[in-house]
Amino acid sequence: MAALPVTETVTGSALRPLLGEIARLRIAVFRAFPYLYDGDADYEERYLMRYAESPGAAIVLAREGAQIVGAATCLPLVAAGEAVLAPFRAHSLDAARFCYFGESVLLAPWRGRGFGVAFFAAREAQARRVPGCAEACFCAVQRPADHPARPAGYTPLDAFWRKRGYAPDPGLVCEMAWKEVGETEETSHRLGFWRKPLTGAP
Ligand SMILES: CC(C)(COP(=O)(O)OP(=O)(O)OC[C@H]1O[C@@H](n2cnc3c(N)ncnc32)[C@H](O)[C@@H]1OP(=O)(O)O)[C@@H](O)C(=O)NCCC(=O)NCCS
Repeated sequence: MAALPVTETVTGSALRPLLGEIARLRIAVFRAFPYLYDGDADYEERYLMRYAESPGAAIVLAREGAQIVGAATCLPLVAAGEAVLAPFRAHSLDAARFCYFGESVLLAPWRGRGFGVAFFAAREAQARRVPGCAEACFCAVQRPADHPARPAGYTPLDAFWRKRGYAPDPGLVCEMAWKEVGETEETSHRLGFWRKPLTGAP
């Protein structure tokens, strides 16, 4: 297998000057199906600040020269927002055992080159450095197969995630509200969690 592309794991205050560019990247990528997110730059920078301020958190970057073309986030679950924490509490799962991968976003021209694989490898390496972290998790929006905005030929990422060792936990779901492209008000969206134990060898 070809070597994975080079990524850079950035933590703490070194993230601060990058948050504006990462916010714009998130807005650009999540505008497409399945998220259809009509993003707000001010909200995004506040949201991303959590990654600069939480011990153990990191953002993994893909760069092309000076431009950030992709980013993936990792956060001890205890530092995540209430919407993410709520289902773990409801299922009596100890949040201190988890790291939460908030998102992976990569501009379309750089897809299919292994950055998505490299993002998981770098975030899992970061999670293994967090004391007490034994599992990685993330959540993904659930859309019906016949959703009107689903592009022809759209390939869900489920097989990609399974190949990375993640499995959906059907009992673990959360609700997040955002404004979809073309809408005037925020609506609630259902996201399902995927999990992977990190206790074995990398
Ligand atoms: C998720 C996302 C970051 C994945 O990015 P990607 O870089 O295209 O993914 P990769 O290139 O790493 O992997 C795609 C496939 O190419 C393969 N691949 C390509 N180059 C490779 C390399 N050098 N080494 C290993 N595998 C490689 C991977 O193995 C994978 O195939 P597989 O699933 O059969 O293993 C990207 O699709 C994206 O930004 N999507 C939109 C946002 C989104 O939905 N994010 C997820 C929810 S937050």
